[in-house]
Amino acid sequence: MSETPFRPSAEIYDLVYSHLDYSRSAEIVEAIIRERNPLARSLLDMGCGTGLHLEQWRERFAEVEGADVDSAMLDVAARRLPAVPLHLADYTDFDLNRTYDAITCMFSAIGYAYTRELLDAALANMASHLEVGGVLAVEPWLQPHMIRPPSLRTHVAEGEGIVVLRSSRHRYDGDESGGVSDLEMTYLVTTVDGSECFTEQHTMGVFTAEQYFESAERAGLEAEFLDREGVSGIGRGVVVGVKR
Ligand SMILES: C[S@@+](CC[C@H](N)C(=O)[O-])C[C@H]1O[C@@H](n2cnc3c(N)ncnc32)[C@H](O)[C@@H]1O
Repeated sequence: MSETPFRPSAEIYDLVYSHLDYSRSAEIVEAIIRERNPLARSLLDMGCGTGLHLEQWRERFAEVEGADVDSAMLDVAARRLPAVPLHLADYTDFDLNRTYDAITCMFSAIGYAYTRELLDAALANMASHLEVGGVLAVEPWLQPHMIRPPSLRTHVAEGEGIVVLRSSRHRYDGDESGGVSDLEMTYLVTTVDGSECFTEQHTMGVFTAEQYFESAERAGLEAEFLDREGVSGIGRGVVVGVKR
């Protein structure tokens, strides 16, 4: 996997998702980690994107690092967090040559592992970077029962000197036991200099809570699927695993 679906929109990502409460989601996940590993001091955020969660966690953990497959997202993260180590890495195939007390994968970044084999590879690789007793916290993509029509949506975000309109089309190829969702997002970005329009395709795996649980167990983790509000207030739950 080496697709970088956010390349065109990386620079406007923070504006588009400015309605999400990263501070709250960082708090929720820190509590999940500390309940299981109170002394956790090192954290890797895999699929860190523009570093919005790392910005919160660098105040709460002694050592934080980020990794993402998309260099355009990492460029934004590096401007936000100049002192934080950031790695260009694909979660299905990476080796950072060290271990962490906690690894996170937030806001459905795991969804880009769109087959069960890729999901297994991603969770196994993350697990192999955990200390014994270390905690993995993954915010999943939608489960099959959460996918409902209407599949057409719009979103508007306004910033200082910029307006972004996004229309999206979501198609699901699967059933109640899982499948693949194709999210096509078309952006119209307007500034005082003019307008530009582009479309992104996001192919994402739709798995059940049980499939996430099984994959985390296969990765050698004591797994749980926490069906709580989850991170970012978006209600997708949290897959948690503690390294045996
Ligand atoms: C919806 S964004 C979430 C970013 C960040 N975690 C957040 O909460 O804002 C999904 C991120 O997953 C990253 N991603 C997608 N596939 C990946 C892969 N195979 N390995 C690592 N990161 C990946 C994307 O580049 C993107 O930054």
